[in-house]
Amino acid sequence: MSHNSFGHLFRITTFGESHGPAIGCVVDGCPPGIVLTEADIQRDLERRRPGQSKFVTQRQEPDAVKILSGVFQDERMAEQLTTGTPIGLLIENKDQRSKDYSEIRDKYRPGHADYTYDAKYGFRDYRGGGRQSARETAMRVAAGAIARKVLDKLYGKVTIRGALVAMGTQNINRANWNWDETANNPFFCPDASAIAPWTEYLEGVRKSGSSVGALIEVVAEGIPAGLGAPVYAKLDNELASALMSINAVKGVEIGDGFATAVMSGEENADEMRMGNDGKPVFLSNHAGGILGGISTGQPIVARFAVKPTSSILSPRRTIDRSGAETEIVTKGRHDPCVGIRAVPVGEAMMALVLADQALRHRAQIG
Ligand SMILES: Cc1cc2nc3c(=O)[nH]c(=O)nc-3n(C[C@H](O)[C@H](O)[C@H](O)COP(=O)(O)O)c2cc1C
Repeated sequence: MSHNSFGHLFRITTFGESHGPAIGCVVDGCPPGIVLTEADIQRDLERRRPGQSKFVTQRQEPDAVKILSGVFQDERMAEQLTTGTPIGLLIENKDQRSKDYSEIRDKYRPGHADYTYDAKYGFRDYRGGGRQSARETAMRVAAGAIARKVLDKLYGKVTIRGALVAMGTQNINRANWNWDETANNPFFCPDASAIAPWTEYLEGVRKSGSSVGALIEVVAEGIPAGLGAPVYAKLDNELASALMSINAVKGVEIGDGFATAVMSGEENADEMRMGNDGKPVFLSNHAGGILGGISTGQPIVARFAVKPTSSILSPRRTIDRSGAETEIVTKGRHDPCVGIRAVPVGEAMMALVLADQALRHRAQIG
């Protein structure tokens, strides 16, 4: 079993390697009648695309998506619509430079997946890390753009946004949180006062050939109460699995997450009142919008920790495929903080989980 599919009723299967001719995805289970163009998908891809600032890999990939199937428009139709058949998506790889990776052909990068791929498969595509490369996450973002459209169609406007809330040792001041600011800086940071110090900090990290980790927060608004299932398909366990499946993610929390371990029951209780519109109002959201695995109607909040990029310029001790002890310096083109480009990927995984849960909810409850 190689497990390249994700989701149940809204199911994606991705394929492709970092240095192969293309990466792609099949989205199966998308309902018919949803307006969908390449531009709708491209908008999200642009936010994840490499080469856009000096803080992300300089690999120049246009990431231009093609829709191969699953949509239709004729002269009587005002817009191109999904047909309900599998949607095939393709992005050609344009800027592969295999020679950059000759150093890792026989040596294992500490912190990367080179050793485990060899241990499992007996050999690996070392060009850019092959399938272990986060190049695959472009297809998650493309599929996530379709998932967002499914959610909008079912529930009106659903907003799923992500932000970098910490980078290495640097934190935001949450009092300054402004979602609009995330589009104005190269970090997806919601705190304008953090940009200058973060820029100086990451510039230092980049120049020294090192890397740092990051913490990302993703929030979904506009999801009604009732999505999720009580035991093995809890919304929170599916979100944790989805976010943990992103390359380099080493921790996930929902709502107040690990901080709840030191809270009292009184502090943690999201008290309830009745709103003027006849719907319950929660006075806080420590639960991150999920109780018993089912959405409460509040914003769904998840955070995930991304480890520092393992391909770094400082020499590290390692072994090669023959077992000989050696050192490795990874040249090539790398992000000093891969957490930055993980922000749109986190949003996409949230959208994929919610769209799948929404279709399953509809299938069971109507
Ligand atoms: C958007 C993104 C870009 C990444 N780019 C790199 C990179 O340039 N170099 C690198 O060593 N790791 C990079 N990674 C992380 C590796 O893909 C990941 O650490 C590796 O596959 C091992 O898997 P694991 O960290 O999940 O155990 C990136 C991760 C993400 C989310």
